[in-house]
Amino acid sequence: MKARTLLIFLLDIQLVLAAIKSISSVQHKSNLPTASNRFIVEVEDTSQIPPSERSTLSPHELLFDHLKARNVTFNVTKQYKAEGLFVGASITLDNPQDVSALKSAPGVKDVRPVRQFSIPKPVSKYTVTGRNDPAIPPDTEGTHVATGVDKLHAEGITGKGIKIGIIDSGVDYTHPSLGGGFGPGFKIVGGYDFVGDDYDGTNTPAPDDDPMDKCSGHGTHVTGIIAADPGNEFNISGVAYEASLSMYRVFGCSGSVADDVLVDALLMAFIDEQDILTLSIGGTDGWTESISAVLTSRFVEQGKVVTIAAGNDGIWGSWYTSSPGNGIDVISVASTDNYVIPLQNATVGGVKHDPITYLDTLPLPVNGTFPIYATSNSTTVEDDACNPLPDSTPDLSDMVVIIRNGSCTAVQKLTNAAAKGAQVALIYDELFTSMDLGSFTASIIQEADGEWLVQQFVAGTPVTLTFPQHGGSADFPNPFGGLISIFTSYGPSNDFYFKPAIATPGGNILSTLPDGTFGVASGTSMATPFAAGSAALILQARGKDVELARGVRSLLESTGQKVPSTKIEGDPLQTVTQQGAGLVNVYDAVHAETIVMPTELIVNDTAHAEPKQSFSVLNAGKSSKEYILSHVPAGTALTVQADSIAPAPGPVPLSNSTATVSISPSKFTLGPGDSQNVTAEIFGPTGLDRTTFPVYSGFIDIDDGSQSFHVVYLGLTGSLIDKQVIDDTDSFFGVNVPTIIDSEGNVQEGAMNYTFEGGDIPTLIWRQVFGSPRVVVDLVDRDIQINTTLNGRDVDNGARPFISFPTSTAPGSFAQVETIGSILEYNFVSRNSDNPNVNGYYSFAWETPTYANGTVVENGVYRLLLRALRVTGDVAKEEDYEVYLSSIVGVDT
Ligand SMILES: *[C@@H]1O[C@H](CO)[C@@H](O)[C@H](O)[C@H]1NC(C)=O
Ligand SMILES: *[C@@H]1O[C@H](CO)[C@@H](O)[C@H](O)[C@H]1NC(C)=O
Ligand SMILES: *[C@@H]1O[C@H](CO)[C@@H](O)[C@H](O)[C@H]1NC(C)=O
Ligand SMILES: *[C@@H]1O[C@H](CO)[C@@H](O)[C@H](O)[C@H]1NC(C)=O
Ligand SMILES: *[C@@H]1O[C@H](CO)[C@@H](O)[C@H](O)[C@H]1NC(C)=O
Ligand SMILES: *[C@@H]1O[C@H](CO)[C@@H](O)[C@H](O)[C@H]1NC(C)=O
Ligand SMILES: *[C@@H]1O[C@H](CO)[C@@H](O)[C@H](O)[C@H]1NC(C)=O
Ligand SMILES: *[C@@H]1O[C@H](CO)[C@@H](O)[C@H](O)[C@H]1NC(C)=O
Ligand SMILES: *[C@@H]1O[C@H](CO)[C@@H](O)[C@H](O)[C@H]1NC(C)=O
Repeated sequence: MKARTLLIFLLDIQLVLAAIKSISSVQHKSNLPTASNRFIVEVEDTSQIPPSERSTLSPHELLFDHLKARNVTFNVTKQYKAEGLFVGASITLDNPQDVSALKSAPGVKDVRPVRQFSIPKPVSKYTVTGRNDPAIPPDTEGTHVATGVDKLHAEGITGKGIKIGIIDSGVDYTHPSLGGGFGPGFKIVGGYDFVGDDYDGTNTPAPDDDPMDKCSGHGTHVTGIIAADPGNEFNISGVAYEASLSMYRVFGCSGSVADDVLVDALLMAFIDEQDILTLSIGGTDGWTESISAVLTSRFVEQGKVVTIAAGNDGIWGSWYTSSPGNGIDVISVASTDNYVIPLQNATVGGVKHDPITYLDTLPLPVNGTFPIYATSNSTTVEDDACNPLPDSTPDLSDMVVIIRNGSCTAVQKLTNAAAKGAQVALIYDELFTSMDLGSFTASIIQEADGEWLVQQFVAGTPVTLTFPQHGGSADFPNPFGGLISIFTSYGPSNDFYFKPAIATPGGNILSTLPDGTFGVASGTSMATPFAAGSAALILQARGKDVELARGVRSLLESTGQKVPSTKIEGDPLQTVTQQGAGLVNVYDAVHAETIVMPTELIVNDTAHAEPKQSFSVLNAGKSSKEYILSHVPAGTALTVQADSIAPAPGPVPLSNSTATVSISPSKFTLGPGDSQNVTAEIFGPTGLDRTTFPVYSGFIDIDDGSQSFHVVYLGLTGSLIDKQVIDDTDSFFGVNVPTIIDSEGNVQEGAMNYTFEGGDIPTLIWRQVFGSPRVVVDLVDRDIQINTTLNGRDVDNGARPFISFPTSTAPGSFAQVETIGSILEYNFVSRNSDNPNVNGYYSFAWETPTYANGTVVENGVYRLLLRALRVTGDVAKEEDYEVYLSSIVGVDT
């Protein structure tokens, strides 16, 4: 755990675990992750309607006529006409409340709010300056060696004849390693720009037919991982460098992409008959239901391979998956870390001593040789430089200042040093972990190095430091090389799908960048194209067809290399909820002579457990094989903190108490072409604290004498209906939630009237410690008597809000609570994170005194009733919801 934090510096995220956010800083607007008045409507294919019932109107015309007949004013952003795949439209309503008219229109199958997706933030992205740049990792092909790609290249398998569609921020195809041009005959044979440079996910796209990436670089980096030509100055190559690529640009220079654009891009890639689609895109979701997740999953049924980033939210813990990677049949990709980290060495002068490694990929921009100055002569003073430095401090402008980490922020320490003229500082830290250093020229060194420097200073040794601008690159051995990158998002999805599916190298990857340059980046964004390239090698080598394409995920999963959770002997394997079925071994997948199906055995939670699972083993080889099967458990993920409702942050703690599996038959012989059904009975571990919602998982190994294959299994000890959804603590804001805040940002205490003018509106704030399939807010009578078997408490005179949780014994139905009208409905809601800046809470600003259907709420006094359905709960059963009743809210317009 201690050393594990080292790699956090690879992440461009603020580590703000357990930070308290001030509730008064909450903005008075809704932050639900969907565009409030934009919807994607799916309608029936004409082919799905019996000929006798077919209208002369198209399904689109029928829909629009229906809306017009109801006086609904709307604009059609897009019409989708992919018969057999997706027929529908993206519609903007003048009045979001008209969504009920949309849902009731003839032929409408589904209405989904338009979501925004971002590029999972890559990190420590920098441009290297040339072949001799000190920052280039040494064995640039190490990722290929670890996955067997190098051996396939040696066999001449390079992706030739395979078409890969990349949905990303565009590509600089003029890059010499990316073919140098665009169109037939080039590496980048086609594509489209759906958005233009200025698109940010919220404004109107400006499409054109040139998917050039001059500003973002993300898509250019991704493209190089798939297909950079070998023979470049850095001696790197893409996984499938002879594949034909098309780039569908859906990101502008910055910002996100909305679902409706993504759907357009996906459909074009489908029509262009790409064999493989890859998306290094994602947004926190937790469910498999978003339109892009559903659509990409359909592509797999149609014989496409789809690889999608698992997400970079690992530090927020389990049950925090990303869409569209959540798509049920797509390949959601986890990241493994490279074996070395390129850091910088400072040279020590004055005495003979080894160089000192500091935590930066590029050299500190400092010329010259400097003496050192320690702000404290003791190496145990915790608040070193937390206060202004004493008057006796000399001018520090020509020295490297050495400061111990701790007690206050590094920025405060550096500010105090700068007040005495300091220009360069090194902070020594037990954890050797990245931290916010503001804009100071400063870096982090290891504790032992800092202590040595301070000792030299105290002893009066004339030690100097130099920061070489070239040749100072040090391959710091990554103690976690080969492990799952700490940033990889954990599954499973709330509906218990197996996410991520597999892992590929994504930490510290050198690839192409715009303008002919190269650079290093980290993220599941970098792992995903590696998986796409791997799939291309499989399709080329095994002969592409629909059956094989559908089976690619199983091939990769069954041949994955199990990844441990740490480098410590005896520690369990990493939970499959973060490693998937392991690090890919493409060579083994290409040459597999044993086909195992299915490869994901989902036991589900205890209430829905299917302990008896089966799979088939096929001998696809030319000779008879003798199989031996055995169980290899992975660590059981303790997904929730004990005796708490809060998810356990990543790295999620693992228990070595694992499932028991009985396999039958566990030994058999198969002739060529023969297959055997195997039954596995899987029983979750006993004796674990159920308040931790332990997710157990592991592998069933299938050894054919020369090669080992496996299937993975996954289950929960406990039932999701028992998992509290709504945070009813003060841990995030310092005040209890849910709550209403008034126009001044104060928590509403007691009854209050709102004019709904000049910002005088109530804003409802809630947090979810778990996903919910349905969250509703209704307006209810101020004197409502809620069935007390539900909440066990009476409503008092109005001041105090209360929250109640389901009791399993309570009878009743949803209709039992008399509501005046619906204010908000929101399906498939993700849980929140502990990050005050991203997805830390939900807010709903009740901006106009209207119900969800647009009817005006009459002046009067009411309460807001928030209800959140527990996972696997029955939508129609009151007792499956958690309930919060607000203080009295008056409408006084
Ligand atoms: C639509 O508007 C027209 C004209 O304002 C009105 O006559 C008609 O009754 C309205 N229809 C519905 C369904 O509200
Ligand atoms: C629909 O388009 C019209 C004309 O372009 C515009 O005035 C109106 O604001 C749009 N409505 C919505 C809901 O976007
Ligand atoms: C960098 O410094 C470390 C620690 O002193 C040393 O082991 C390593 O050899 C140095 N690397 C280079 C390239 O100088
Ligand atoms: C260091 O010196 C080099 C060569 O003289 C110069 O190009 C560079 O700008 C200098 N860097 C700084 C930070 O002064
Ligand atoms: C710290 O050590 C230096 C070098 O020996 C000495 O000059 C200085 O007085 C010491 N500072 C304190 C506060 O003891
Ligand atoms: C797990 O069980 C729930 C409740 O029956 C169900 O909705 C969900 O689809 C199941 N998950 C899988 C992967 O089968
Ligand atoms: C499991 O872990 C516990 C504590 O971490 C340890 O005491 C125990 O020996 C381990 N059991 C096995 C079977 O490794
Ligand atoms: C395996 O089981 C499936 C479904 O239970 C069945 O359709 C299939 O015939 C069985 N295969 C063998 C080889 O027994
Ligand atoms: C809110 O307005 C109602 C009238 O609609 C009034 O009876 C009540 O006293 C007001 N409450 C507060 C707290 O001002």
